Amino acid sequence: MVKVFVSDFIPEDILDPLRSLGEVDMWQGPGQVPRSTLLANLGTARGWLSMLTDTIDAELLDAAPGIRVISQMSVGVDNIDVDACRSRGVLLGHTPDVLTETVADTAFALIAAAVRRLPEGERMVRTGAWGPWDPWHFLGGDLYHATLGIVGMGRIGQAITRRARGFEMTVNYTSPTRKDVPDATMLDLADLLSDSDVVVVAAPLNSETRGMIGAAELNLMRADAYLVNIARGPLVDTVALIEALARRSIGGAALDVTDPEPLPPDHPLLGFPNCLVVPHIGSASVRARRAMARLAVDNLVAALRGEPMPAPLHD
Ligand code: DGY
Repeated sequence: MVKVFVSDFIPEDILDPLRSLGEVDMWQGPGQVPRSTLLANLGTARGWLSMLTDTIDAELLDAAPGIRVISQMSVGVDNIDVDACRSRGVLLGHTPDVLTETVADTAFALIAAAVRRLPEGERMVRTGAWGPWDPWHFLGGDLYHATLGIVGMGRIGQAITRRARGFEMTVNYTSPTRKDVPDATMLDLADLLSDSDVVVVAAPLNSETRGMIGAAELNLMRADAYLVNIARGPLVDTVALIEALARRSIGGAALDVTDPEPLPPDHPLLGFPNCLVVPHIGSASVRARRAMARLAVDNLVAALRGEPMPAPLHD
């Protein structure tokens, strides 16, 4: 009988097709599955439904020689040594598309929160510092007619662009290749950074993009511009961001993802009232997470049956 390991809880109705195919060993906490459990339990598994919190490297793959397919419940796969998987003949699947609109919604929530200074205002209310209405209090920027710079024009960047049209924004983007996106202009990164009211990072994390927003890039942003990261924390140099916030050389930041993650409560980033941090919840709608789980199961079931996966990882 085929054995499958599942790195986190998946609802039974979604897991059903996998259960009918083989024996399912599902980690149910507490917390994330420890590496020692993966090393001990993957040895006899043929399939693995992984999470972005699993570090999938050569050591782990060598301890799991029976693994033929890894299906990850996320679109990002920066936790996976893809070359090590390919060289061992391990098939890879992930969950694009089903989360795109949800992540774009979250990006816009962060843009609005940063530009209209919602977290600062909310903190003032909660701390009892809300005084009489003041015409010059809490002035921020406008979303309407703002210039949005999107770093990475993949599916999520394009979904953000569709939303930006409603606010009549000017949209610029950077991308390794030109994209046919109506109402969006491709710029080089330096021009995009200096032109933007809001810069949204929506690129995949890889060896070329790691740290792409560092001190030099942050210095190009205007003093009233906001940085939003909806992709992966290490795309932005955390130390450089702290320095930029401390020097007030940017207006603020709104981060769904950070480096490190999770961010300890005493982390310097959390000391800035103009830096909003939420805990990697970009795709955390009920619909999107169920769809991601379903696609991850479908990928695994298809590959274990020797059929094409609905969402294989392309190079
Ligand atoms: C992904 O799928 O890569 C997201 O970061 C999960 O929200």
